[in-house]
Amino acid sequence: MCEVICIANQKGGVGKTTTAVNLAASLAVEEKKVLLVDVDPQANATTSLGFHRNSIEFNIYHVLIGTKKISQIIQKTSIPTLYLAPSNIGLVGIEKEFYSQKRNGRELILKKKIEDVMDVYDYVIIDSPPALGPLTINALSAAHSVIIPIQCEFFALEGLAQLLNTIKLLRKEINPTLEIKGLLPTMYSAQNNLSRQVYADLLQHFNGQLIKEDDSKDAIAIPRNIKLAESPSFGKPVILYDVRSQGNIAYQSLARAILEKRA
Ligand SMILES: Nc1ncnc2c1ncn2[C@@H]1O[C@H](COP(=O)(O)OP(=O)(O)O)[C@@H](O)[C@H]1O
Ligand SMILES: [Mg+2]
Repeated sequence: MCEVICIANQKGGVGKTTTAVNLAASLAVEEKKVLLVDVDPQANATTSLGFHRNSIEFNIYHVLIGTKKISQIIQKTSIPTLYLAPSNIGLVGIEKEFYSQKRNGRELILKKKIEDVMDVYDYVIIDSPPALGPLTINALSAAHSVIIPIQCEFFALEGLAQLLNTIKLLRKEINPTLEIKGLLPTMYSAQNNLSRQVYADLLQHFNGQLIKEDDSKDAIAIPRNIKLAESPSFGKPVILYDVRSQGNIAYQSLARAILEKRA
C-alpha cells in the first residue's frame, strides 16, 4: 500500500522543501521506493536533487494540464529507489488552467495523476508551495497525511490556525481521511532562547501532535544545521552530503518514525 504524505505550510522558508527532500531520501535509503513530487513553481526540491530547472523538458505542469502522464516525467536520482516528478517555474500558469476547469473536481487533479503510479511506490512525498492556493489544495487533497514544518522562530505559529482550518474543511468536503501526521519543529537551536521557547510552547500546546519515533523518545525536532543548508547547492540530499551531520540524523529518525507508524 502506497502512502502519500504532503509537506505543507503556507509560510515560506520554514523547511518544507528541506523536509520533503530529506524525508524522501531517508525513506529511500531504508529501501522503500519513493516518489518525490515537486508542486512548487519555485522548483527548489527539483534543484536540491541536482536537476537544473530548465534542462528537463517535461514537468508536473504538463502532467496537470494533461499533455503528459506522470510516468513520462519521472526522473531517476542518485539514490536508486528515489524518483522525482520535477517542477518548473512554468507551473505558475496552472492556477489559471485550474480555474477554467469546471468547479467540481479541480481540487482532485493531482490525486488522479498520482493514482496512476501508486502501485509502483511505497511512499509519495509532495513538496508544496508557500501559499494556500490551488496547488497546495491539490496536494492536500491527494494526500493520506500531512506533515507541517514549524520554524522555531518568532511568529512560528502564525498562520497555523488557518492551515488547520483549511485541513478541517478539506476533510469535510474532499478528503475525509486526511490525517495530520504531525507538526515538525524545524531549525531548532538549543543555544537560542527564542528557539527553545517556541519548542517549549509547541510541547505544551501541541504535544500530542508532535512526531515521535516511539513513545520512549522525545518529540522529533530538526536542528538548525549548516549541512542541511549546504547540501542543496551540491544537488544532494544531506544523507549523501554528510551522513553524520545532526541534520541527517534527525531526518533519518523522522523517516523511522514514519515507517514505525505504518508497521
Ligand atoms: N534545519 C535547517 N538548518 C539550517 N538551514 C535550514 C534548515 N531547514 C531549512 N534550512 C534552510 O532554510 C531555507 C528555507 O528552507 P526551505 O526548506 O527551502 O523552506 P520552504 O520550502 O518552507 O520555503 C533554505 O535555505 C534551507 O536550506
Ligand atoms: Mg520550498
